[in-house]
Amino acid sequence: MENTPQTSDRVAQGKMPGLSRNLISLTGAAIAIASIVGIVFLFSIELLAQRGTPYLGIFTYIIFPAILIFGLLTILVGMLIERRRRHHMAPSMIAQYPRIDFNNPRQRRMISLFVVFTFVFLFVSAIGSYQAFEYTESNSFCGQLCHSVMNPEYVAYQNSPHARVGCVDCHVGPGATWYVRSKLSGAYQVYSVLFNKYPRPIHTPIKSLRPAQETCEQCHWPEKFFGAQMKIFTHFATDEENTPKQIRMLINTGGGSDRSGFVTGIHWHMNIANEITYVSSDDKRQVIPWVQMKDKSGKITQFFAEDAKLSQDQIAGMEKRRLDCVDCHNRPTHIYVPPDRAVDDSLLARRIDRSLPFIKQQALDVLSKPYDTTDDALRNIAVELDKYYRSNYASRYNQLEGSVKGAIKEVQHIFSTNIFPEMKVDWRTHPDNISHYYFSGCFRCHDGQHKSPEGKVVRNDCNICHTIIDQTSGGVSVMPVEGKSFQHPVDLGDFTGMKCTDCHSGGGSN
Ligand code: HEC
Ligand code: HEC
Ligand code: HEC
Ligand code: HEC
Ligand code: HEC
Ligand code: HEC
Repeated sequence: MENTPQTSDRVAQGKMPGLSRNLISLTGAAIAIASIVGIVFLFSIELLAQRGTPYLGIFTYIIFPAILIFGLLTILVGMLIERRRRHHMAPSMIAQYPRIDFNNPRQRRMISLFVVFTFVFLFVSAIGSYQAFEYTESNSFCGQLCHSVMNPEYVAYQNSPHARVGCVDCHVGPGATWYVRSKLSGAYQVYSVLFNKYPRPIHTPIKSLRPAQETCEQCHWPEKFFGAQMKIFTHFATDEENTPKQIRMLINTGGGSDRSGFVTGIHWHMNIANEITYVSSDDKRQVIPWVQMKDKSGKITQFFAEDAKLSQDQIAGMEKRRLDCVDCHNRPTHIYVPPDRAVDDSLLARRIDRSLPFIKQQALDVLSKPYDTTDDALRNIAVELDKYYRSNYASRYNQLEGSVKGAIKEVQHIFSTNIFPEMKVDWRTHPDNISHYYFSGCFRCHDGQHKSPEGKVVRNDCNICHTIIDQTSGGVSVMPVEGKSFQHPVDLGDFTGMKCTDCHSGGGSN
């Protein structure tokens, strides 16, 4: 393409209007400027405000920067279209490629301006991307942004021992691969929320959860556990006096590594040298028909549940899982406390007046009923409890009124922090495997009927996991009689093969 020196001079000297003087580019510029103003404005709000809201961050670090880049691209596209248009109209006036001439002072100025702008832009977007990264890793992003969807997990988390541990410390962990994986699945989650496709309740992520060695063990490591731990369990009976019953026991937490001492006890399972693998026949992993133990010397023992309806061939074809922290500690932070325990805790802490007759029983009743919405439940709790004391304790109601009001408030609080009808989440949908009292837990294997062909049994004796030191009822010691390790309030014989969950469900009638 031939260019006369005249025209290219005119272009170079800026006598022609600049390529960016077109409608598309001007619109792009307006968009870019507006988003810069938006970012600066929100950023200053965030600096000045005491507490940011989760919605602010998504605009400051994700949406506005995306609009800014869109604006800048629009300017470029506009310029390209304009260039082609001019080239079409007067091919002789526009060179096929722009000519860069450092001898031309105007061009020199433009180019240095461009270089400086590019540097500043790259620098600011590096900061911005880091902020966006940090933001998408924050608890408010994970827990609050999809407020109603994650509400159960977030609320339970805030009341748990891990309330100060970030969601990503357990769900993502360190390293880039899992960051990318989590963002990809996150993109799908955003889609399922927008189109209301998510399941209620949200499925437990065990399959996609990162192995515990890479998350939990960043903070807790097996070498650290040894010895026993003293724990006191306090229950209140469902009688008129709400009689307190206490069990003090040493929990044989045990060690996970030879280096920290004798390897025995509960954490023996996750000693690096021992390997327990199992299959489960349901997706909540509550029914375990087959367990395999490989000990330090490499000896393998297989245990089969006596009541399992699965044949050896079927078991061979099933997915095996190696037992790790999350198989016992499956609710380290999203703990949906069963009403029985929650009410016991409130009575123990005296947030509910213990002298209120039958309050344990009444509170359990209202908490265990099915409700469609949280509002329904809260209203019903207030009405039912008040009605009970008005009609059954009419003569004393005036003295009881204060305690009844207090109890209503506390029971409503228990409901709204542990039971979520909108998401269909409560203690029944998310069993906790750490015990064997309300859920099968340890007794999924330690039920005395997982046996190996050689006749070995996964042990069920009450003393391998804990030793009861003392038991009291209404403050009076009720130590187990000779030969028994636990004094059950109702005589149950010698407990062999007995599942606590047959009678203790955590709700209504215990
Ligand atoms: C201490 C570790 C830990 C922290 C911190 C944590 N989670 Fe979890 N979360 C888990 C484990 C373990 C499971 C799965 C348990 C299972 O498979 O049964 C889980 C399950 C979930 C589930 C699936 C539903 C369920 O209850 O099983 C969601 C949703 C979830 N977490 C969201 C969050 C959010 C949001 C945060 C931060 C507010 C968070 N988690 C913080 C460990 C954690
Ligand atoms: C970022 C660090 C961190 C990570 C990751 C973490 N924890 Fe913890 N965990 C803690 C701290 C801190 C405490 C102590 C809280 C306290 O004393 O109140 C704790 C306490 C616990 C307890 C004792 C709870 C109690 O009732 O006192 C258990 C059990 C536990 N963690 C299990 C887990 C499991 C299982 C995982 C992985 C799914 C995990 N933790 C991941 C920091 C962490
Ligand atoms: C076989 C089941 C089982 C496995 C597997 C297991 N734990 Fe535990 N763990 C328990 C029991 C039971 C307790 C004692 C009861 C309690 O405190 O909740 C306990 C107690 C704890 C405690 C608090 C007590 C202490 O000594 O500090 C922490 C923290 C803990 N476990 C972390 C872990 C981690 C991390 C893993 C994985 C590396 C793990 N556990 C694997 C059953 C298990
Ligand atoms: C997936 C099956 C399975 C689950 C679930 C399980 N265990 Fe075990 N556990 C075993 C097997 C298999 C053995 C080895 C056989 C035996 O010692 O009876 C064992 C052994 C033990 C031992 C003896 C360790 C030693 O010193 O020799 C203790 C203690 C123990 N488990 C505690 C627990 C506790 C507490 C829980 C629940 C939090 C639990 N287990 C859950 C399979 C399981
Ligand atoms: C395989 C281990 C294991 C065996 C066997 C076992 N327990 Fe437990 N038990 C536990 C664990 C773990 C806990 C819960 C510890 C915690 O919550 O921190 C527990 C808790 C308890 C509690 C307190 C429950 C509560 O929440 O108040 C009682 C009572 C109890 N066990 C009695 C028994 C009796 C009786 C037997 C014999 C039939 C037995 N246990 C056998 C592991 C075991
Ligand atoms: C046949 C039914 C049945 C079985 C099985 C059973 N319990 Fe109970 N348990 C009861 C009854 C009934 C009470 C009294 C409830 C009350 O006073 O409100 C009770 C009370 C208790 C209490 C005192 C707390 C309270 O609410 O009064 C503890 C602790 C307890 N059981 C532990 C266990 C353990 C651990 C197991 C399993 C080894 C077990 N129970 C198995 C029926 C049973």
